[in-house]
Amino acid sequence: MHLHGTSEINKSGQLTIGGVSTIDLVNQYGTPLYVYDVALIRERARGFKQTFQDLGVKSEVAYASKAFSSIAIFRLMKEEGLSLDVVSGGELYTALKAGFPSERIHFNGNNKSLEELNMAVRNKIGCVVVDNFHELQLLNEITCEMKQKINVLLRVTPGIEAHTHDYILTGQEDSKFGFDLQNGQAEDAMKQALKAEYIELLGLHCHIGSQIFETTGFILAAKKIIGKVAAWKSSYGFLPKVINLGGGFGIRYTREDDPIPPSQYVKEMIQAVREETEKLGLDMPEIWIEPGRSLVGDAGTTLYTVGSSKEVPGTRKYVAVDGGMNDNIRPALYGAKYEAVIANKADELPKEKVSVAGKCCESGDMLMWDVLLQSADPGDTLAMFCTGAYGYSMANNYNRIPRPPVVFVENGQSTLAVRRETYEDLISLDQ
Ligand code: LLP
Repeated sequence: MHLHGTSEINKSGQLTIGGVSTIDLVNQYGTPLYVYDVALIRERARGFKQTFQDLGVKSEVAYASKAFSSIAIFRLMKEEGLSLDVVSGGELYTALKAGFPSERIHFNGNNKSLEELNMAVRNKIGCVVVDNFHELQLLNEITCEMKQKINVLLRVTPGIEAHTHDYILTGQEDSKFGFDLQNGQAEDAMKQALKAEYIELLGLHCHIGSQIFETTGFILAAKKIIGKVAAWKSSYGFLPKVINLGGGFGIRYTREDDPIPPSQYVKEMIQAVREETEKLGLDMPEIWIEPGRSLVGDAGTTLYTVGSSKEVPGTRKYVAVDGGMNDNIRPALYGAKYEAVIANKADELPKEKVSVAGKCCESGDMLMWDVLLQSADPGDTLAMFCTGAYGYSMANNYNRIPRPPVVFVENGQSTLAVRRETYEDLISLDQ
């Protein structure tokens, strides 16, 4: 079993996180329950910042809040001095309510509405990552009307393919995101942005995909971008102050995953940009990144209570828990794999191969197929690791199942970050 962050096994054989027994957490908050190891999130955040500092490169590390968006996590990222990437009015609203400094908020997305862009300009956010010509026009109109400047990055698709699941691949030419770097779209966008009176063009942005283990894609993207930048400098005199290379750094979900340390991605990206800019006689730009999963993914653990089970003789044993695709849709959507332990028997050796099912009325509602576990009996607590990214943020109320609460643990203390949804909450929008 691979324990992440501060997770340990105590003398009673129980899994602990942040110095708190998961069984105590279950008794206090119930299940399903998302638990976040705050110390691990801090470690990851500091790791990214430190790498830039050590290499003497100006940077902004923006937490991609789609991975897990809530007031508590935004406050934590603010405390750690990170910036924030939002992709909707809702994420922006949450960030502002959390007291996140608006000048450190970046707004991404391929179809921001007029209302969302208005909200961004009105709140004087740090920058809008403009994705397409329609948005560029809207932003020009809004800023002219308000007579207010806004910083802009242009999202470009560098035309490279990263090795990951198709649904989370975003850097290739055939993508809904960004201006194509090769076919002249990005250049046109740059010219338009430079002409717009209230648009301050800071630089370029790209994001090649998610859960990527190799640095090759990032390096290729960086090189392609710098190559264009050099050409644009000589033709238009425009030199970007910022290159944002996005997020996507892979994490270890199971023993099949073998990621490099997060800082390694950053080091190699910086090296590529440095080499390329030196070669072409350009100034080193600021490098911004946007990690989501690699900041919060392995810091999250979901606790469930084991309920029913079913043996299919000669085939497999299903063990059902009190959550499922409602609180973690990743296995159903991407075939994502996870590891788990029976948290109240964590000191025992795994002895049974089982498949863990959710409780939704849908055969695809499976959390794990054929995993080795300690004997899973009704009432036991199942802890599923690495659920911190895209778990709560993709949670839903299918079958009218309330969303679980989120608890932060650190130094032996637990704090409720998001309360459990109630049946009353479920009907609160019904007229
Ligand atoms: N920046 C942009 C523009 C993005 O689109 C994303 C992720 C990120 C940063 C952060 O990527 P990360 O560091 O978290 O890999 N729901 C999927 C992942 C979708 C990723 C979408 N964009 C999943 O559960 O695997």
